[in-house]
Amino acid sequence: MTMDMEFEPLTGTFGAIVHGVDLSRAHDDVTIDSIMNGLMEHLVLVFPQQDITEQQHFDLGNRLGDLEPRHPLIDHVADFENLLLLENGPDRPPNNEDWHADMTFRAAPPHCSLLQAKVLPTRGGDTMFANMCAIYEDLSDTLKAMIENLTAIHDVERGFRKVLDDPKDQATLQAMENMDPTNSRVSHPVTGIHPVSGRRYLNVSECYTSQIDGMPQDEGDALLKMLSAQVWKPRYQLRHRWAVNDLVMFDNLGTQHYAVGDYTEYRRMHRITVKTYHATTARERVA
Ligand SMILES: [Fe+2]
Repeated sequence: MTMDMEFEPLTGTFGAIVHGVDLSRAHDDVTIDSIMNGLMEHLVLVFPQQDITEQQHFDLGNRLGDLEPRHPLIDHVADFENLLLLENGPDRPPNNEDWHADMTFRAAPPHCSLLQAKVLPTRGGDTMFANMCAIYEDLSDTLKAMIENLTAIHDVERGFRKVLDDPKDQATLQAMENMDPTNSRVSHPVTGIHPVSGRRYLNVSECYTSQIDGMPQDEGDALLKMLSAQVWKPRYQLRHRWAVNDLVMFDNLGTQHYAVGDYTEYRRMHRITVKTYHATTARERVA
């Protein structure tokens, strides 16, 4: 029996709750194509309270595209190297309050992430999203022309600098030093073009972008500060208040996100990161 999938928009510009789909067995072509269409249109999809196993989470990501391998700096779930384990709590207070898209320090940043809440604090720990396509579209034509051909450096060390400041975390520091510099400190266009939807998006973040190529640092810093600050405008934001087993799928190119660190109790999230959509999935989408 097939169910009708419905997308209930969450804001005036992006985000939708997805009704009528069971992610434990949503792997037929029609369902996957509907999810992809919905993701391209809404950028962030909230699938409420999907009681799926680690294997089913993995299978869903695997169905959408090629997965990111084991993360160089973040733990994974036992027996699932692609399934990131994001844990915070009394022993590890949240310390990653920065707007970012995931892993833009890679030469080819991942296309989307599938994040699920497994254990939540009594309150707090929301995740915020920003619509980088709408932010780009609303820039003036003068500014769009100015940034059109600019590139900027995305640097893993900038993103993980808080970890660097923690003398206890020598293992992460060592792992970062061992990373291939050609795949952890890279230049990307300031104006991104989405490979599937063709939409343009603003492609710099407070977290990872360290400088604009070819500009003196002070000029580049001023421009980056102004561009990066657009994510703080509420009209471009969406805030998700988690319930256990919610799964949120986000377009990692057209959006950025921010993990609100307003909690002290234990919080456990799992994330599958899709590096590149399967060619067939992408082709169906643009056809
Ligand atoms: Fe992230």
